[in-house]
Amino acid sequence: MKLFKLSLLALSFSLVACGDKSKPNIELIQDMMESPSIKAQEYDVNAPNGISARVPPAGTVPRGFEPYPYGNDFEAATNNKNPLIGDMSEEVLMTGQKYYNTQCMVCHGMKGEGSEKATVAQLMALKPPPMISDKIKGWTDGQIYHVITMGQGVMGPYASHIPAKYRWQVVNYIRHLQK
Ligand code: HEC
Repeated sequence: MKLFKLSLLALSFSLVACGDKSKPNIELIQDMMESPSIKAQEYDVNAPNGISARVPPAGTVPRGFEPYPYGNDFEAATNNKNPLIGDMSEEVLMTGQKYYNTQCMVCHGMKGEGSEKATVAQLMALKPPPMISDKIKGWTDGQIYHVITMGQGVMGPYASHIPAKYRWQVVNYIRHLQK
């Protein structure tokens, strides 16, 4: 008799559990449903201002990211030394050319001559200046690297287009064009 009562009880539970599929099941054990973890965008009483998505601590950088120490300081960047200085090897120039031709040529011209022959820049109101001018010849490598990394005036930064480890090759390629 006792066994019969028990199985009746189990049956009634299972009927309750799988009866109406459009409604959530009855929670018999609630611990698993009500997890203490904070869900995305949820209010968090323990967080500053209650915002669950915490701001990374100051100075945090993504993995593999190399911070550019000169910020917006063009003058300080003058002293940024080119680790590939004078390296006009085929390997360096081919890499530089690859990035120059994909990222810079449309505005500064295939040979660095400026906007006259550049496909896109001909029509621009502010003409992109040449790379082979006396002005840029007189710049340090660090200054050219700086403009690639941070941009200048209406020219945007190309840091996200050219990984840091290939930017000096672009600088050397510009030096090659200047010859
Ligand atoms: C969308 C067009 C455009 C592209 C692409 C572009 N630039 Fe420029 N660049 C400009 C313009 C416009 C200026 C002038 C900006 C100013 O001074 O306001 C400029 C300025 C410069 C200068 C300074 C020239 C001077 O005489 O002051 C350098 C160096 C330079 N760019 C290098 C590059 C390199 C290297 C690339 C490729 C990584 C590149 N630019 C890509 C438009 C472009």
